[in-house]
Amino acid sequence: MNAKIVTIPGDGIGPEIVAEAQKVLEKVAEVYGHQFTFEKVLMGGCSIDAYGEPLTDATVAACQSADAVLMGSIGGKVGQSHWYELPPEKRPEAGLLKLRKSLGLFCNLRPAHLYPELRRACPLRESIAEQGFDVMMVRELTGGLYFGARKTETVDGEEVATDTLVYHDYEIRRIAKKACEIAEKRHGHVTSVDKANVLDSSRLWRKVVTEVATAHPGVQLEHALVDSTAMQLVRNPGQFDVVVTENMFGDILSDEMAEIAGSLGMLPSASLREDSFGLYEPSGGSAPDIAGQNIANPLATILSAAMLLRYSLNLTKEADAIEDAVAEALRTGFRTGDIMEDDVEGLTCLHTDEMGDKIASLIR
Ligand code: IPM
Ligand code: MN
Repeated sequence: MNAKIVTIPGDGIGPEIVAEAQKVLEKVAEVYGHQFTFEKVLMGGCSIDAYGEPLTDATVAACQSADAVLMGSIGGKVGQSHWYELPPEKRPEAGLLKLRKSLGLFCNLRPAHLYPELRRACPLRESIAEQGFDVMMVRELTGGLYFGARKTETVDGEEVATDTLVYHDYEIRRIAKKACEIAEKRHGHVTSVDKANVLDSSRLWRKVVTEVATAHPGVQLEHALVDSTAMQLVRNPGQFDVVVTENMFGDILSDEMAEIAGSLGMLPSASLREDSFGLYEPSGGSAPDIAGQNIANPLATILSAAMLLRYSLNLTKEADAIEDAVAEALRTGFRTGDIMEDDVEGLTCLHTDEMGDKIASLIR
């Protein structure tokens, strides 16, 4: 197969972790006889520094011409980096949001599962970590509070800030459909998360998700409130299969899921549109405090590359090969600093590039 992959290394640890994921994809191409071409473009803080804006039309066009996009992370330290002296719509994060919207990436998948080797890195009770969990978070990505009208104004001498949470029924319908289809290939269970005891947008969410689920008789749907779900995720994550929710709730719950899975450095993500096109990025941020030190965990990005093969290129065997290589590296004791346990014998702590080499060497 020939495929064009655009890479957006971005800021902070982004360039280091994307380099390792690209290395693994190149090894996959070699072993399985594919032609992958890579084109690197700028977004985020590095694009602000180069072009004065976080996302240029050229970057959007490059992404549109690709089969898939592999991204690192964008942004710096709020309050410390000069990027945050700019107005909000000129900052790094605005670039990412505009890119998601321009590419129509409404469906964000964040799979969290606890590798048996990382049970001790899981902050939950031992008996819960023992049971393990495997949750697929389906986060709506182009609606809600992130994209509603906002303003800050002065009313009667007081500063007032407003954000708006808007959902159209079609936006809920298409993400609910994706969640049901994914559940049909897993354990057939969907938990739809909302705040229907307070919000109108959540009441519409609940109604539309219920309608969609009736067209999927193989799917068992449950509704849950977001506050209670936050609690249940730390109490007993094993009860969840597919969790579907709106943009902001999904942002918050997915960080919680990453933490119970051992490290934000382990959680990949896929942002998909209706067809097979997608953007793949680790769920974690740019970690500016450890950037440039070759110590970041590249596994979330490498696992995102596996999702790219699976969802955009339909290369299932190749995606499995990457996921198996990651599992094998963990099983044989290879770690990065974030998941290292100094008091356990037989573990080897690797640098970012060494972990990339290790995974590439395990691709068969
Ligand atoms: C994420 C990030 C982004 C989001 C930020 C960087 C805008 O936290 O992908 O989860 O909130 O969606
Ligand atoms: Mn987030």
